[in-house]
Amino acid sequence: MRSARFWLRSLGRVGTLGAALLLSLTPITPTTPTTPIAPAAAAPAAAYAAVTHEAETALVSQGVVEANHTGFTGSGFVNYNNTSGSYVQWTVNAAQAGSASLTLRYANGTTANRPMDLTVNGVTAAASRAFPGTGAWSSWATTTVTATLRAGANTIRATATTATGGPNVDHLAVDIAPAPAGDTPVEINGQLKVCGTKLCNQYGKPIQLRGMSTHGLQWYNQCVTSGSLDALATDWNADVLRISMYIQEDGYETNPRRFTDLVHSIIEQATARGMYAIVDWHMLSPGDPHYNLARAKTFFTEIAQRHANKNNLLYEIANEPNGVSWPSIKSYAEQLIPVIRQHDADTPVLVGTRAWSSLGVSDGANETEIVNNPVNASNIMYTFHFYAGSHGADYLGALSRAADKLPMFVTEFGTQTASGDGANNFARAQQYIDLMASKKISWSNWNYSDDFRSGAVFTDGTCARNGPWTGAGPLKPAGVWVRDRIRTPDDFPTS
Ligand code: GCU
Repeated sequence: MRSARFWLRSLGRVGTLGAALLLSLTPITPTTPTTPIAPAAAAPAAAYAAVTHEAETALVSQGVVEANHTGFTGSGFVNYNNTSGSYVQWTVNAAQAGSASLTLRYANGTTANRPMDLTVNGVTAAASRAFPGTGAWSSWATTTVTATLRAGANTIRATATTATGGPNVDHLAVDIAPAPAGDTPVEINGQLKVCGTKLCNQYGKPIQLRGMSTHGLQWYNQCVTSGSLDALATDWNADVLRISMYIQEDGYETNPRRFTDLVHSIIEQATARGMYAIVDWHMLSPGDPHYNLARAKTFFTEIAQRHANKNNLLYEIANEPNGVSWPSIKSYAEQLIPVIRQHDADTPVLVGTRAWSSLGVSDGANETEIVNNPVNASNIMYTFHFYAGSHGADYLGALSRAADKLPMFVTEFGTQTASGDGANNFARAQQYIDLMASKKISWSNWNYSDDFRSGAVFTDGTCARNGPWTGAGPLKPAGVWVRDRIRTPDDFPTS
């Protein structure tokens, strides 16, 4: 009875979440010209132990390597040759993802700025940084940009943006922050990757994430506040937030800019709290994902471009396909995933399954159609949704069998019926919880709102009052039950 969820249409509440965007790049430190230093001196004065990457050994485009002004480190520097678009590009390896200080050492013997753009893995880290005069071509100064590096190889490029070219560039010093000592789920686990049938952390160890899905943002973004997210992260101890963005039913298609910005903002807020975030393309009606393929390409291109350097995302590309065959869902996934991968090579992608993500069971099929004909892409998982008041042994059996052959992620479930309402069946729900724990199947529960239905965790009026959010006080029975199951200690192996 997944179609019972058409009830959502009758709701028209639209809230206003402050969409203040938290930038992942910290402000740039001011340029401080330094006094000339002798050739072959050690790395420039800095309060940290940076690794120096010389410009003369990097990839140089439309510039020339020279050594005719003193004070450089290494064997020379790059003269940008008075050409707009000339650049120096370094490849920097990072042992783990994290924040880094990128310090460029340069000289500008003129009195005019020599602006350059700095990009990290194609994403702008500083636009038109000034690189003002340093007094002489032999007077070297530094300027620092803070950016997020990913684990492994990073491409860092400094490109001249005006016809005078860049300054002379001596080197790039990179100081990668040590592994965070913090204990948020993202600090511990880092970038996730599908390994075999499991979701693995940065140490290659299988983990299970547990958390909550928002309700449709077009109706309930007033339940996604700094207070409610603080409660989710620190009172519920959730590992993951699913950001449920409907396409139809007054969702994305009515105002792509507004909804994309809302998702950007919630991603930043989840990131700031050390939680993973599932970007849920909540297609539902029509049930053929191809109907929204062009929209999905536009949306996920921007999401992937903006957040490619983050290590805490998962992209759910089709919430609940229905009325379509598995091969049709597979073809949708195989058209969309390469578009995402152009901009973001390493974020796991979650693919919906036939008949409201029931692995086909709601249509009388089962997981074998996927096992025999999987999506042709790597680093993907398949989704399964269940409602314990409606879905019994057939569904439990399909999930259990599937998890032995396919990477599975339960991005949505409820303890009540498939309408998200009605009596809770906690005994049946516990069977799923136990199965998911034993097979390390990650999950997010529907839903973190104060909708009147039994599956919305907060009592009616909680969001309009803006809390209180913590403890069992504001929760309905399903909320008390699922909070207890999210709060239990995580098992996140690091070795
Ligand atoms: C001078 C200077 C070069 C510098 C160039 C410039 O020619 O000697 O080192 O690159 O000016 O204008 O960029």
